[in-house]
Amino acid sequence: MELYLDTANIKLIKQMCEIYPISGITCNPSIVIKDNATIEEMCSLDERLKVCIQVIGETVEDMLVDADKILALRPNVIVKVPVTPVGYQVLHILSKKKVHTLATAIHNVAQALFAAQCGATYLAPYVNRICENDVDGVQTVIDMHHALLNQQSSTKIIAASFKNLYQVSTLLAAGVDAVTVSPELFNKWIDNQDTRLAVDKFTSDWQKAFNYKHL
Ligand code: E4P
Repeated sequence: MELYLDTANIKLIKQMCEIYPISGITCNPSIVIKDNATIEEMCSLDERLKVCIQVIGETVEDMLVDADKILALRPNVIVKVPVTPVGYQVLHILSKKKVHTLATAIHNVAQALFAAQCGATYLAPYVNRICENDVDGVQTVIDMHHALLNQQSSTKIIAASFKNLYQVSTLLAAGVDAVTVSPELFNKWIDNQDTRLAVDKFTSDWQKAFNYKHL
């Protein structure tokens, strides 16, 4: 499995990637603005990280200008392209140039399969936003995963837009390749309150018995 952080908080990215096995970073234009970052800062992150930056343009030409800009800043960047009619064309063009892409804002299996057909390297289905349309977002992504396996596609899923750990763990248990989660959700993932209670009890029992904080 691969774990991505869905953030543009540069300080936090540096701290977390230093201590945890994080494969890469995803963001979108709204996240970059919210976290007060710049595309240049995102593209300067440690080169071992897979960094995904989204294009903005509304035409093929404009999206390709954005793609060229981020590729000039970071040659191994993963260009994030929304699955609009224009975006599919851009995915196809970039794929022919061997540029790695992440097809994003995917809401159903048909979009996922067409993006894969256009040569996308990765797909970002929006789990929670699918749920907000009264559709089971978790099951939709599991269906995408099986459809890609059935077609022996090399395109991988980086599931996105999570609101809880149930959604994350169900997809990983089903074999989905990768997830991208917010720092808030990542903290809940690695700091389970029941685990913390159990460990606190072990420590306090030991201290009461031996008045010593080491074995
Ligand atoms: C990821 O790359 C997406 O842009 C992101 O996960 C969307 O999440 P949201 O639905 O919480 O905005």
